[in-house]
Amino acid sequence: MSDALWGGRFTKTTDEMVNDFQASISFDRRLYREDIAGSIAHAAMLAKTGIITGEDRDAIVSGLRDILGQIDRGEFDFSVTLEDIHLNIEKRLTDAIGAAGGRLHTARSRNDQVALDTHMYLRREIVGLMELIRDLQQALLETADRHKEVIMPGYTHLQRAQPVLFSHHLMAYFFMLGRDFERLEGAYRRADIMPLGAGALAGTTFPIDREYVAGSLNFDRIYANSMDAVSDRDYALEFLSAAAIVMVHLSRLSEEICLWATKEFSFIELDDAHCTGSSIMPQKKNPDVSELVRGKTGRVTGHLMALLTVVKGLPLAYNKDLQEDKEGLFDTIDTLKFSLTVYAALIRGMKVREDVMKRAVTEDFSNATDLADYLARKGLPFRQAHAVAGAAVARAIERGVYLADFTLEELKELSPLFAEDIYEAISPETCVRLRNSLGGTGYDSVKRQLADGVKLLSEEAAAISRLSLRQIDPATLDLNGQPEPDQTE
Ligand code: ARG
Repeated sequence: MSDALWGGRFTKTTDEMVNDFQASISFDRRLYREDIAGSIAHAAMLAKTGIITGEDRDAIVSGLRDILGQIDRGEFDFSVTLEDIHLNIEKRLTDAIGAAGGRLHTARSRNDQVALDTHMYLRREIVGLMELIRDLQQALLETADRHKEVIMPGYTHLQRAQPVLFSHHLMAYFFMLGRDFERLEGAYRRADIMPLGAGALAGTTFPIDREYVAGSLNFDRIYANSMDAVSDRDYALEFLSAAAIVMVHLSRLSEEICLWATKEFSFIELDDAHCTGSSIMPQKKNPDVSELVRGKTGRVTGHLMALLTVVKGLPLAYNKDLQEDKEGLFDTIDTLKFSLTVYAALIRGMKVREDVMKRAVTEDFSNATDLADYLARKGLPFRQAHAVAGAAVARAIERGVYLADFTLEELKELSPLFAEDIYEAISPETCVRLRNSLGGTGYDSVKRQLADGVKLLSEEAAAISRLSLRQIDPATLDLNGQPEPDQTE
């Protein structure tokens, strides 16, 4: 007979190679806090409904808290023969407290147990990520605020397009991350549904109380269908896709940082502490952080694709394939945490070269639209104004000058509508100032964005503290409110 916890019907022990292949303890051990919290709540429910005695419950709860301490202190010896975190903890509990430990798994299966753990784990990690996103937003907002009036070329097709405020450019990323925050809040809501009580797939013959468990673990909702409860990985997919979008945003920002830090652009200078050098080229200062974040986007989008592929075509209900959900999920969480943390530091540490940006918008044609707008304001149809401005650009290129270098006489040759006020109209400051439409790059518009940003940050802080209050700590999980043991015995 096999001595596995499920070994009753087996005549042989598992092949060692097969066991190594199927065991998940090397990675699912990080679910231990959630596994213990879930088991404590489950044991309390079993006692409350009279399925086990109050005495057994007390032994189970204190045994589990001992194990929690052992794992916290690094004193727990995880065994690969015991496959996963659930069996490792259950076996240690039974060794410690005897028969009562064997009653813990009543009315439960590892299928609903692992789903419960993953939901709780994700809930906790999502809140942490929301905090990190908010901190990066704060870094962007502070930097934008510090350089409120700095003008730089705005690009389309990576060609100089129109002057914009550097703060406007940074605030675009701020609002992008605001949507990421919202998406994570949504992913939290879908993780906040309790699967426990689904059993292996069909529910249980025991008179369990799922509301009680959901209440003690602070779940907002309970899965209405047991087969859905054990096979749903939508919440993980949704999280992974939200995470992939965060990484794509960081990757786009990374590309800009790498460009801006080149000699050719020189718009920013990264802090020495955030760069590395070359082992052969002594002059090098490489923007590794941005490059790596851009590169790590690949693995996160990969994890999303991997889980979509795992779930696609998977019949109900639990299949071992679903164990493949975890490594990608964990790696995504680690990658995001790291990327968001270093990025906030990078943004806070970078120097903005206001002089270079300023020079860039003086020595270019990004004011050509404004030259056309000027003529259009004087009554010329915009299409014609566009053609005049185009001709002016062509002539300037030919002479190796910029639009502001033309004399008024030269401009008048192109259109009699030009007057002395054209120079003021095409200065970078005017180009920016006049784009004061809602959401535009105008000085006042950007001030509004900064104010909206401050408001958003405080709303986000409130959301984070609301969700933080709902976090479960297995060490102090409150089991009050349950009937005394003698009522159930
Ligand atoms: N380690 C498993 C997983 O992550 C736990 C559930 C195992 N269930 C089972 N029927 N073998 O999915």
